[in-house]
Amino acid sequence: MKIELYLPVYKQFEYEKKFALLELKQITKCFLIDKIESTELGYEFDLTDEARLPALVTSLKRLTYVANIKINSEIIDTYQGVLEKSCPVNGHQKRQPTRYGAHGIHEYKGKFNPQIVSSILHQFSPTKNSKVLEPFCGSGTTLYESSIKGFENVGFDFNPLAVFLANTKLASINLSLPLAKKEMICVISNSKKFADTIYLESNERLDYLKNWFDIEQLKKIESFRLCANKIKKKEIRDSLLCIASNLIKEYSQQEPADLRIRRRKSLLPERCFFEVVQEKAEKYFSSLETVSQVLPANLPVGTAKNIDIRDTLALKDYFDYFDFAITSPPYATALPYIDTQRLSLVWLELASPKNIKVLDSTLIGSRELKKSEQNKLKEDLVENKDKLPEKLHNLCLDMLGSLTDNDGFRRQAMPFLVYRYFVDMKKMFENVLLMLKSGGKFALVVGHNKTTLGGVVFELNTPSYLATLAEHIGWDVSEIVCLDVYHRYDLHQSNSIDSESLVLLQKL
Ligand SMILES: C[S@@+](CC[C@H](N)C(=O)[O-])C[C@H]1O[C@@H](n2cnc3c(N)ncnc32)[C@H](O)[C@@H]1O
Repeated sequence: MKIELYLPVYKQFEYEKKFALLELKQITKCFLIDKIESTELGYEFDLTDEARLPALVTSLKRLTYVANIKINSEIIDTYQGVLEKSCPVNGHQKRQPTRYGAHGIHEYKGKFNPQIVSSILHQFSPTKNSKVLEPFCGSGTTLYESSIKGFENVGFDFNPLAVFLANTKLASINLSLPLAKKEMICVISNSKKFADTIYLESNERLDYLKNWFDIEQLKKIESFRLCANKIKKKEIRDSLLCIASNLIKEYSQQEPADLRIRRRKSLLPERCFFEVVQEKAEKYFSSLETVSQVLPANLPVGTAKNIDIRDTLALKDYFDYFDFAITSPPYATALPYIDTQRLSLVWLELASPKNIKVLDSTLIGSRELKKSEQNKLKEDLVENKDKLPEKLHNLCLDMLGSLTDNDGFRRQAMPFLVYRYFVDMKKMFENVLLMLKSGGKFALVVGHNKTTLGGVVFELNTPSYLATLAEHIGWDVSEIVCLDVYHRYDLHQSNSIDSESLVLLQKL
């Protein structure tokens, strides 16, 4: 019997084509398929033992980079095919849809695409009891994708907004849609009335927000938050707060497209905040409806925890617990995760304005560096106090040696930031090693970067550096796979990551 598989309509990267085949081989391994042929539209093969067709179809429906399966003349959609079809399309966009299910509820810088997580998971050949770890869970892409694939999962992030977003996505799995729609209409109607009478007192939080919003706008946003906070069901309350949080920068006096905090030059949106929240919430609920229609009931709900991944003691309950880890880690000079999200953090009461800077400086890859810390790091770097592998220590020394007086203060800090990053990532690798079971696999999607010091260009091959670091502390480096070029941020093109690699490690 001939089985034909059709690829999605979006243009695939070379690595996605390669992954599609790897996943297919993995999934069909136990069905004694002789030969998989490539066709113009995808793949085809013969199934000799027709009694195994139902089991094969169940497995094929899980493929990430296949949209449909043709058997005899019947066309069956894969789960991924259905989820991607439900994504909102802008114009004639032929880009990979990544905002299906709960994935699209809130933007988060450094998000990776859910398809890569799904494919890596399948290539790892999980069993139904496999447990997935995400050491830098961010907005929860790995966690949510693991949940909808049926795997137990736990993630960690030190940014409270990331943890809030990830947990909201995870809880969406058990959200009652009829109730959520009712609550949403009620909150919108109550907050419209409340916005006319609300009094915004003076305190640290509101004074901060008053600086970034027109007062009438702030009244609307604050009324919405207070009315939403009255909802008893946490998963509904948090979903509505997330949807609104994703819009507030758009309605603020900050330039919405700018990663850094700058006063806005572009015009404010014309449409009323409430109207847009309602529209976004309706779209969100309809994406969740698609998930509930195609996926089995009783999916596991994972969890995201606000824990610093360097804090070994706080992770001790998870030693020898996970089968796999999948992440996209921060870079040596990371994206300003906290800075870009200041408004949401303060509005949602996840951080006070005073705490923002402290929070920012504690994240791995932060660019914040006090003079006193710089002096201490200089001593550590020169002596290699943290016992980095020689290759990485030499890189830091080269960077330090290349500095001239012409380099500004940001560049002067680079060798120390890179050194501190390696030290932090070493700790992370040690902790993830403790948390994985023996034989456990760890996948990292990592970008390359570059910096110029004293006129010398340093191509920072972070994937290779991280592999060196991991090997140094006992990981086995299975493979480094080059992924294709991405262009992510228009405004900050010079800092953008234009090529990425997948680093695959194993705990022996
Ligand atoms: C590239 S982002 C991850 C994005 C995520 N894959 C997603 O799809 O949303 C890296 C994350 O590392 C987190 N992070 C930085 N330092 C950390 C630390 N010490 N412990 C835990 N998480 C940290 C940042 O807050 C950020 O969310």
